[in-house]
Amino acid sequence: MEVLGIDVGGSGVKGAIVNIDTGELVTNRLRIETPQPSKPDSVIGVIKEIVNHFNYQGPIGVGFPGVIMNGVTMTAANVDDEWLNYPAAEAISKATGCQVYVGNDADVAAIGEMRYGAGRNVDGVVMIFTLGTGIGSAMFLNGHIVPNVEIGHIYQRNRKLDAEYFASDRARKREDLSWKEWGARLDKYFKYIEMLFSPDLIIIGGGISKKHDKFLHYIQVRAKVVPAQLLNEAGIIGAAIGAVDR
Ligand code: BGC
Repeated sequence: MEVLGIDVGGSGVKGAIVNIDTGELVTNRLRIETPQPSKPDSVIGVIKEIVNHFNYQGPIGVGFPGVIMNGVTMTAANVDDEWLNYPAAEAISKATGCQVYVGNDADVAAIGEMRYGAGRNVDGVVMIFTLGTGIGSAMFLNGHIVPNVEIGHIYQRNRKLDAEYFASDRARKREDLSWKEWGARLDKYFKYIEMLFSPDLIIIGGGISKKHDKFLHYIQVRAKVVPAQLLNEAGIIGAAIGAVDR
C-alpha cells in the first residue's frame, strides 16, 4: 500500500509517498521551508502544497514536533504557540480532503526505525532519540510504543534548563561545540537516561546521525548504542505507517 508521509520540523516540512509494505519511498522527497512564524494556517498551507504536488488522495500520516493526543497538538516547544491545543488532524483533513493521522515526530520516526531500521526484531526496552532542533524521544517495550514520552525535556541535577537546551544538535551549533565537547554532554545525558530507564538498546536518529562516527563513541553507557538506519527518511516512513496502523 502507498501512503503519503509528512514530517513537520522547525526548519522544513518534508513529504514523500511511501510503500508501507517495504518501507521504501516510491517518490522523491519534497522539502519546503517551514513558514516563519510557524502558525497552523501557514504550515497547513505547506502540507496542502505537498499533497497537491503529489496529486495525492488517500490517508496521510503527519509527524509533528509536540505531544499529540487524538489528533490534537498539546505542546509546541519549537513551533508557534498557536499549535497549543490545536485540532491538527481535523484542520489538515479539512484543508486536504484526506483522512489524516498526526503523531509525535520522534514517535513516528521511531516506528519507522523499529519496523524497517535499527530496531527491527529487537525486544526488551528500546529507546530512540532524535537529535536536532530539539531532542525527540520514543520508548518501546517488546515492540510496543509508549506514546508521547518527552525525555528531551528532562532537567538534570544542577541545571536550570532542560536537557534539550544543552544536548540537542541546535545546542552544538549555537555554542559552536567541538564533537568532543558535545559528546561529553551527550554522555552525561545518556548516563542519566540509563540510570532512570535501563534500556537494552539506544538508537540515535535525527539528521546528525549521518555523522555518528564523530560522536557516538563518546556515549559510554551499558546499553548498546547504535545509529538510526533510515536517517532523514524515518519520519516520513513512520508517519505513513502510522496513518494505516493508527
Ligand atoms: C518536543 C518533542 C519533539 C522533539 C523533536 C521537542 O522539543 O517537545 O515533542 O519530539 O522536540 O522535534
